Amino acid sequence: MAGSTGHHHRMRHLRRMSPDLTAQEDTQLPLELRNISKSFGGVSVLRDVSLELRKGEVLGLVGDNGAGKSTLIKIITGVHQPDEGEILFNGKKVAGLSVQKARELGVETVYQERALAEQLSMWRNIFMGRPLSLPMGFLKVGQMRQVTADLMGQSMGFTSAALTPDTHVSGLSGGERQGLAIVRALHFEADIIILDEPTMGLSLSETDKFLGFVAGIRSAGKSAIFIDHNIFHVYSVADRVVVLDRGRVAGEFPTSRYSLDELTAIMKEVAASGRFIEPQRQSAMRAIEADQGKGGS
Ligand SMILES: Nc1ncnc2c1ncn2[C@@H]1O[C@H](COP(=O)(O)OP(=O)(O)OP(=O)(O)O)[C@@H](O)[C@H]1O
Ligand SMILES: [Mg+2]
Repeated sequence: MAGSTGHHHRMRHLRRMSPDLTAQEDTQLPLELRNISKSFGGVSVLRDVSLELRKGEVLGLVGDNGAGKSTLIKIITGVHQPDEGEILFNGKKVAGLSVQKARELGVETVYQERALAEQLSMWRNIFMGRPLSLPMGFLKVGQMRQVTADLMGQSMGFTSAALTPDTHVSGLSGGERQGLAIVRALHFEADIIILDEPTMGLSLSETDKFLGFVAGIRSAGKSAIFIDHNIFHVYSVADRVVVLDRGRVAGEFPTSRYSLDELTAIMKEVAASGRFIEPQRQSAMRAIEADQGKGGS
């Protein structure tokens, strides 16, 4: 029964929408937010925010200070509960999301400062909170060192002989630290990696190296949400950029279709006017969707 309804639904799409949109319908989204709203003490911080994160995609999230980016991230990571709206992981609605639950669902967050323990070695950082141990509780230290050494060589591309699994994080550059945090997330099979202002305080070369790690998330088939005040950084790694303005989504821009200059101009326009008139193409798509939402004809 459900099958025939789905088939019927699909046929309608085939008639009315382009083939690439029909294909997307069958692809499960690692994460989808529907009409999320959030207020703090009566002040609205997020309003009717909907967005989707696709598999193997780096989604850029930009907007002025106070636009609501970090609040949105905290909703995805279970720190805050939305007042309204739905969160779906792999197509399934999740109610009452907690930090623990978000982690179990494969969400990892990489922050500039908070992600690592500086006074501990790299291998301890990799396995922090999730050590390899024998049933009796003895730690498999040798194995954890070996895995760390492998990750350093393969995923992180650390070639310096000065760095070993026993090197303390305090001896790493900012870019190397961020790389370690990303590699850790990938090692534990995080499906969604959240990067909130990860380049803050990094030098130019460290930033370059770090942006390389972000590209590695995509090639591993995982997804990321990347927040950065620097649009150059976001543009260079993101597949799509969502512009948030005063708690609302002002627009969504695939980097394959918008140049950096266009995107910069759009962001300026959004900041000045509080809204962005979408290109005809996008509004036409919305009109089709709205029509279908009403049941079509
Ligand atoms: N826990 C909270 N209680 C009350 N107000 C909050 C809370 N968290 C955030 N806000 C407010 O919500 C708004 C959005 O904040 P948020 O941190 O999400 O912005 P942002 O886009 O991440 O900004 P920035 O780019 O400066 O990091 C701000 O006005 C902020 O003061
Ligand atoms: Mg923020």
